[in-house]
Amino acid sequence: MVLKQITALVFAVLSVNATIAISTHRTDDPLTTIALAAPDGSIKANFIAWGATTTNLWVKDKHGSFRDILLGFDNHSLYQTQEDGHPYFAPVIGRYANRIRNGTFTIPISKNASGPGQKYQIPENAADATLHGGIVGYDARPWTTLKQSSNSVTFSLVDPDGDQGFPGTVTTEVTYTLDVKSTWKIHMHSVATEPTPIMLTNHHYFNLEAYQESQDLNSHFIQIDASRFVATNGELLPNGTLTSVEGTTLDFRKAKSLGEAINNTVCGTGCSGFDNDWVYDTPNSNKPGLSLWSTNSGIKLDVTTNQIATQVYSCNALFFPGIIPVIPRKVDQGGPDEVYENQSCVALEQQSIIDAINNPEFGVNQIYGPNRPYTWETTYTFSVLN
Ligand SMILES: *[C@@H]1O[C@H](CO)[C@@H](O)[C@H](O)[C@H]1NC(C)=O
Ligand SMILES: *[C@@H]1O[C@H](CO)[C@@H](O)[C@H](O)[C@H]1NC(C)=O
Ligand SMILES: *[C@@H]1O[C@H](CO)[C@@H](O)[C@H](O)[C@H]1NC(C)=O
Ligand SMILES: *[C@@H]1O[C@H](CO)[C@@H](O)[C@H](O)[C@H]1NC(C)=O
Ligand SMILES: *[C@@H]1O[C@H](CO)[C@@H](O)[C@H](O)[C@H]1NC(C)=O
Ligand SMILES: *[C@@H]1O[C@H](CO)[C@@H](O)[C@H](O)[C@H]1NC(C)=O
Repeated sequence: MVLKQITALVFAVLSVNATIAISTHRTDDPLTTIALAAPDGSIKANFIAWGATTTNLWVKDKHGSFRDILLGFDNHSLYQTQEDGHPYFAPVIGRYANRIRNGTFTIPISKNASGPGQKYQIPENAADATLHGGIVGYDARPWTTLKQSSNSVTFSLVDPDGDQGFPGTVTTEVTYTLDVKSTWKIHMHSVATEPTPIMLTNHHYFNLEAYQESQDLNSHFIQIDASRFVATNGELLPNGTLTSVEGTTLDFRKAKSLGEAINNTVCGTGCSGFDNDWVYDTPNSNKPGLSLWSTNSGIKLDVTTNQIATQVYSCNALFFPGIIPVIPRKVDQGGPDEVYENQSCVALEQQSIIDAINNPEFGVNQIYGPNRPYTWETTYTFSVLN
């Protein structure tokens, strides 16, 4: 099963390469660095229009020094060519994040697309599923830079009717804003010309130590306000049930070390680590739904969001020797001679419930259209442990 996933990944990489020729007709270079800083200088970040990607994020550690805590490529061409295995380093994911069972769904939705609605087929790029919006997702497209100031940038993307097999044209804007007191706000908004599934996310991989003290997650602690997670099979496809975290390794209602829990959980067949979707107990609250911190660097991240769930992925199998290349770290993270190890980072994806378009029992309406715009909002607030 893992091999099948790899084949799909390699196929995805080849297909992504095929789109590059089209994007070179653009006049503005989507790989140009856009550098922003908060008005009080407490947080800094760099972005590129390709994938509306965040390439760097600097926050202060317990010594008052800036560290770049996001994984990425120093060589921006690698975001475009995906030679380094398509790790989805910090882009916007769309039109539909995570997995769609068998790449199919109906509108109106039905269990496993077995109902009478209009059936849609999206090419698969993972085991028995479409992952992250298809072979050419929003991460692999040139967005347009609409607006820019010293602390904010807005990118937009028009996703045409029929692209990857999805119905209706979807126009999306994402605004990244750096604010005082180390605050990073992300706002996404989409409008569709026809009823269509939309589930966006941001795919940031964090290492709150910037690899300075350790290469594992033992000193990274996480707390998640969630008593349920989405039950999945060995291919990470939901079966329609939400399961209690009680008595499982996935119980993070009280903070635990991620690294110490990592060997006691599985992320599908032949994989160890976290790759799960937790359903927040108090969604859309001003209280953080999730907090992550490192006792080594002292950097703490609190996440508030209007999303009902969060996927947490502990960078399992970030590379497979001989198949997915080893990825050199950024210079700011000790590269390029050092590489990104498996399970040395964590992706925090604020989102809806996986594949709710094939599981009506979740009761989540993910079909948007002319009379139902889509909005995604998340705030990351950084601080230093006392
Ligand atoms: C960046 O990556 C591109 C694509 O692989 C490569 O052609 C180029 O030589 C690289 N640039 C540097 C400075 O390494
Ligand atoms: C998967 O999708 C194909 C194409 O629509 C369909 O023929 C097949 O029945 C589907 N398989 C399952 C298990 O739903
Ligand atoms: C949907 O797929 C799951 C997983 O293959 C299966 O267990 C379930 O029986 C299917 N449901 C229907 C209605 O086909
Ligand atoms: C889904 O999987 C979970 C965990 O394996 C299991 O407890 C639950 O009974 C399953 N639900 C269905 C409908 O098969
Ligand atoms: C988890 O497993 C790996 C590989 O077997 C091992 O190196 C590591 O020490 C284990 N971590 C813990 C906290 O036991
Ligand atoms: C990363 O994980 C994959 C899958 O578990 C494994 O095949 C590979 O050997 C790991 N790489 C390293 C350097 O541990």
